[in-house]
Amino acid sequence: MIITIDGPAAAGKGTLAQKLADKYNLAYFDTGMVYRAVGIDLIANGIAPDNVAAAEKSAKNMTFTKMLALAQNPDFRSSTGGQAASKVAAMPKVRAYLLKMQQDFAENPIAKDGSRLTGVVYDGRDTGTTVCPQAELKLFVTASPEVRAMRRHKEYLQKGLPSVYEEVLAQTKERDLRDSSRTASPLKPADDAIIIDTSDMGIDEVFAEVCRIVDEKL
Ligand code: C5P
Repeated sequence: MIITIDGPAAAGKGTLAQKLADKYNLAYFDTGMVYRAVGIDLIANGIAPDNVAAAEKSAKNMTFTKMLALAQNPDFRSSTGGQAASKVAAMPKVRAYLLKMQQDFAENPIAKDGSRLTGVVYDGRDTGTTVCPQAELKLFVTASPEVRAMRRHKEYLQKGLPSVYEEVLAQTKERDLRDSSRTASPLKPADDAIIIDTSDMGIDEVFAEVCRIVDEKL
């Protein structure tokens, strides 16, 4: 079974995807990691993330193993990593180079402990529209920019990272605009996606609602 969860940053996709993967014994692929890996690869080499030629070269040479190694960089999950990811993600060739790696995972889903599984929960922006249009269940999880920025802000503070809410809100809006206005695979719900607005819902409520939908499918 393949489930895709797309939506803007900090809408609650990651937590939901991991909970679903655990409950239904599916692998989990956070596809934002492939773009963060390219962004961090550039930054670590002193190259600006809007350098198209360098980003294309990094994407062409990106592998799953290299991505996991780059994920150890302290900036990988930071707003610097997120902004860099969203810049390289707007480059059509970068997306094309990273597509196969994401699609191959559905053929060979692997759990964190290395065991083989029979399905995947994808989390990203275009996993229901481009990466896995054949998915059995497509969700589009969203929330207002203010709610998402506050969630991210709290997350940064909990991790001990410096954060100013107003700046996180401005970055959230900037990233939304870049992700949804790019020409290659913009952020938008698949035609057959179920849209869930989590602005006024806690994660337990969202999870219960989605489990009901999955159980109906099964
Ligand atoms: O989800 P995350 O915040 O890690 O994603 C980082 C960036 O990667 C997003 O802002 C988006 O530009 C890009 N992305 C994408 N397509 C995906 C996943 C992430 O363009 N499927």
